[in-house]
Amino acid sequence: MLILGIETSCDETSCAVVKCENNRFFVLSNIISSQIKFHAPYGGVVPNLAARKHLQNILPVTKKALKKAGIVPNNLDFIAVTQGPGLIPALLVGTMAAKTFSYFWHKPLLGIHHIEGHIYANFIENKIENNLDEISKFEVSNSPVKFPLLCLVVSGGHTQLIFMKEHLDYTILGETLDDAVGEAFDKVARILGLPYPGGPQIEKKTSMIKNNSYQTLEKKFPRPMINSKDLNFSFSGLKTSVLYLIKKNESLLKNDRFVREVCHEFQEAVTETLIAKTIQAGKRYSPKTILLAGGVSANQYLQKKMAKIIKKELPYSAYHSLDTRYSLDNATMIAIAGFFRWEKNKDNKNFQKEIANNWKTLQTQANLELK
Ligand code: KG4
Ligand code: ZN
Repeated sequence: MLILGIETSCDETSCAVVKCENNRFFVLSNIISSQIKFHAPYGGVVPNLAARKHLQNILPVTKKALKKAGIVPNNLDFIAVTQGPGLIPALLVGTMAAKTFSYFWHKPLLGIHHIEGHIYANFIENKIENNLDEISKFEVSNSPVKFPLLCLVVSGGHTQLIFMKEHLDYTILGETLDDAVGEAFDKVARILGLPYPGGPQIEKKTSMIKNNSYQTLEKKFPRPMINSKDLNFSFSGLKTSVLYLIKKNESLLKNDRFVREVCHEFQEAVTETLIAKTIQAGKRYSPKTILLAGGVSANQYLQKKMAKIIKKELPYSAYHSLDTRYSLDNATMIAIAGFFRWEKNKDNKNFQKEIANNWKTLQTQANLELK
């Protein structure tokens, strides 16, 4: 089975071809055209600029993905596209392209939830096959990911703890009451004068600070809602603490040691909070596997600390680490999620009708619900 995935929900135009054979996935191509440099001067993603860039990129990126995979459209079994949530002008380009391909190539079209894609990125195994550059393999039968599972979703737009009893069955246990964690990273970076996107910049700055050995930072930042009984998060107060600190003494921004210490302490406060809530949920719901999903899961400090604490606090749950090549937005994750949707519903007549008609009926949704 050959699947074309398309993702344009934010600032990456991505197309991927995934082959599924005998319960194994092969990523034949995963082309990502990033627009970061165009949005960086504005300190964040400008929706209409993103749409314009997607429009320029979508056909060359699709052609490149097909060429690299060594296939022609006729070989495809179906197309999977990000339907939402995301920036509407950006989503529209991907869905319109997918609908056009679906119509011209006579291929069924599946609309995928962006976060479902991030979660299913965990179903690509870390291994790279011998001498097959960039090709990943994954054996479904021996999947290290076992249900029920708990997934901490941490992206630029979402912060959620999701419990899954089985494939495609989602219960949201908790979520952010204000800013998403990636958004908080980006805003704090901006306050500190660091370029967009802030997450990787902040992580880079933390590298020289060891064991909270602060020389310039007098007070620690709060760990928001860490003692609340629910599984929700809040990051806007933490961001405001950084803002007030800088407002009190802007000249400190010239001191690189100070900026590094703020980055370190901010990352520490965020990871401590995320991990505490994940452990709380793990103790309550006893998942077999715990996963991370979304752009912030590229953070190595979060990954390592999460693995260590789960081993200690939740010995009956296995932490599954995500291949960071698939942490950020990409179309492979959309194709893989499409595969599991297809597998679950392929014998359902209504589903078959829906995906055959999606070339004309699929609607983008900025606030699409995960269900
Ligand atoms: O999932 P993603 O690519 O896009 C959305 O669906 O939102 O996530 C982007 C977010 C940005 O806020 C970016 O700053 C953050 O992920 N991010 C990181 C790291 N790499 C990306 N945050 C912390 N540490 C990182 N290494
Ligand atoms: Zn994303």
